[in-house]
Amino acid sequence: MNTVLVTGATGAVGRHLVRELLDAGTRVRALTRDAERAGSVLPDGAEPVVGDLADADALGRALKGVDRAYVMLDADAGAAFAHAASRAAELRHVVLLSASAAADPGYDNPMFRKHVEGERQLRASGVPTTFLRPGAFSTLALHWVPAVRGDGVVRVVFPQLSVALIDPRDIADVAAVALRGAVDRWAGRVLPLSGPRLLNMHDRARIIAETVGRPLRVEQVPEEAWVRAASAHLPEPYARALVGVERYFTERPPGVAGTVAEVTGRPARSFRTWVTDHRDAFLG
Ligand SMILES: NC(=O)c1ccc[n+]([C@@H]2O[C@H](COP(=O)([O-])OP(=O)(O)OC[C@H]3O[C@@H](n4cnc5c(N)ncnc54)[C@H](OP(=O)(O)O)[C@@H]3O)[C@@H](O)[C@H]2O)c1
Repeated sequence: MNTVLVTGATGAVGRHLVRELLDAGTRVRALTRDAERAGSVLPDGAEPVVGDLADADALGRALKGVDRAYVMLDADAGAAFAHAASRAAELRHVVLLSASAAADPGYDNPMFRKHVEGERQLRASGVPTTFLRPGAFSTLALHWVPAVRGDGVVRVVFPQLSVALIDPRDIADVAAVALRGAVDRWAGRVLPLSGPRLLNMHDRARIIAETVGRPLRVEQVPEEAWVRAASAHLPEPYARALVGVERYFTERPPGVAGTVAEVTGRPARSFRTWVTDHRDAFLG
């Protein structure tokens, strides 16, 4: 194996993937928009390369001498990456971080469209691609940090929404297996990914409260009130898209996928494990 380009290298999935690949002896080029800031996050041995996911020229330079790549999607839904990838002479395999939302092209929501379009772009690029389709990440629980540190009440629109939250480290583990494996084995495969157990909002709050040692309970609020409150710290279109995704999965409950265990040979990490490992983020 030559060199793997990891995009989103300082992010929740990317930073674990970088470390795993390096530990396995793979050369890693790590894409970031800010090399100085990334310096404090990227492990020794990763080669930082500066570029934006919307900049096809920068991506073309980043892909020189690279034979495999892990790509996440940003606002342009993979258009620039697909363009650069289709011209990258040595690139043989891409692992795309898509989402379970890509399974429903007809649903009108920006987060769904981004992943449907991202998969389409990569297929059209002609580069052999593996599609990772996780559901919601455990990291979404970080939105509850102010409630944990504040009045101990999380306000949600859909308390019964039941999702098997996935630990980003499990996504990185699956990506690493695919990137290091034979292209013929992994190219074209669509891998639905989830955590090990369905948890509704009350379950999530109970696990956080027990693990962090602070009281936390869930209170249902109307959608408009939630969007107004969330817009204080999130862009409003993002808040609206998020609540749309929650409505979708409340109406069509997702299942539990066994893919993490099948690919990595060990069970997916529990939400309790993720919270335990991020206890300090809740306590401050
Ligand atoms: N959260 C969920 O529940 C969920 C569910 C399904 C799928 N997903 C997918 O997961 C992806 C996020 O993955 P993640 O959680 O690992 O990422 P993350 O923690 O949000 O980090 C993303 C990293 O990507 C880099 N980045 C952001 N915008 C960029 C741009 N325009 N150009 C280049 N780099 C950029 C940033 O690094 P620098 O600042 O160093 O550039 C950042 O550290 C989303 O795109 C979404 O498609 C998320």
